[in-house]
Amino acid sequence: MKFPKLKSDAMLAPMADVTDVAFRLLCRKYGAGLAFTEMVSANALARMNKATLLMIDVVPDEKPRAVQLFGQNIECFVKSAEYLEDKCEIIDLNLGCPHSKIIKQGSGSALLERPNKIKEIVSALSSAVSMPITCKLRLGIDKSSINVIKTAKICEEAGASMITIHARTQKQGYTGKADWPWIKKVKENAGIPVTGNGDVRSVEDYERMKNETKCDYVMIGRGAIGNPYIFRQIAEFNATGKYSKQSDIERLNDLFSYLGLAKKHGVQLKNIIFHAQSFTKGMRNSSMLRFKLSKAKTIEEIRCIMEDFKT
Ligand SMILES: Cc1cc2nc3c(=O)[nH]c(=O)nc-3n(C[C@H](O)[C@H](O)[C@H](O)COP(=O)(O)O)c2cc1C
Repeated sequence: MKFPKLKSDAMLAPMADVTDVAFRLLCRKYGAGLAFTEMVSANALARMNKATLLMIDVVPDEKPRAVQLFGQNIECFVKSAEYLEDKCEIIDLNLGCPHSKIIKQGSGSALLERPNKIKEIVSALSSAVSMPITCKLRLGIDKSSINVIKTAKICEEAGASMITIHARTQKQGYTGKADWPWIKKVKENAGIPVTGNGDVRSVEDYERMKNETKCDYVMIGRGAIGNPYIFRQIAEFNATGKYSKQSDIERLNDLFSYLGLAKKHGVQLKNIIFHAQSFTKGMRNSSMLRFKLSKAKTIEEIRCIMEDFKT
């Protein structure tokens, strides 16, 4: 299945406990072309685990909806994909998570060591459903075993319609610098769209990644936390060649928009506290605010704390 045409080439990365439906909708409002759910266990989804079902919090307003799955069991992937068939437009396969809990079960970046298994999973997903399957990869396990050209090709040949390269190894976790030249090499070898990811925190980084790697799309993770406005800046930059800064008041207003959406869609409190702290990072008196927010027990309480802070 062909990857759909997006309104923007900048996307929001999947981030556990961060990219809830309210945050995704805000990023989409500001112009993100696509916004991925956090990773969801295919094994748990196949068992119809209640908590996991709640993680599939996608809504029609965010079409095309992209749900990310992690796992290692083909049958569970197929069952999960079939369940998702009428709930989203894209399924993304996590081939990059470096957390020990995930690696131990043979999922996420552990699969980078098993190209044949990747092939089996992507083929099974592509045959199971008639929607695009995309893959999010890291460079390899460590600097001495980088195999991203091979794994990216395997994903493509097995039916993936877009690949994202987070240009770090499993061993790097989130440290060190993302090695963008690998994104360029994958792009030169790929017949499907390539998304570059890693260390894009500003419009300048976005532009530099596009120029240096020639990637089709740019995925932004940490740079969007507390700052969904980055997608508006990118859109503005692409339209006019310049972009405007966001004031603290505008940023606080974004947080109130987030709170409204979070209430409407029943987002869990820990995410809301995290976002409230992130949106206000660096503002005057924000350390006291962080403390107060960490004690909040309801979204109403968070709203009151924020109203107080704003005045
Ligand atoms: C808090 C957090 C949670 C993440 N969760 C996921 C996830 O669920 N699935 C995934 O593929 N990557 C996950 N990532 C990795 C990001 O999607 C992204 O690849 C990485 O942060 C590099 O991009 P950045 O430099 O723009 O942040 C996570 C990253 C962070 C910081």
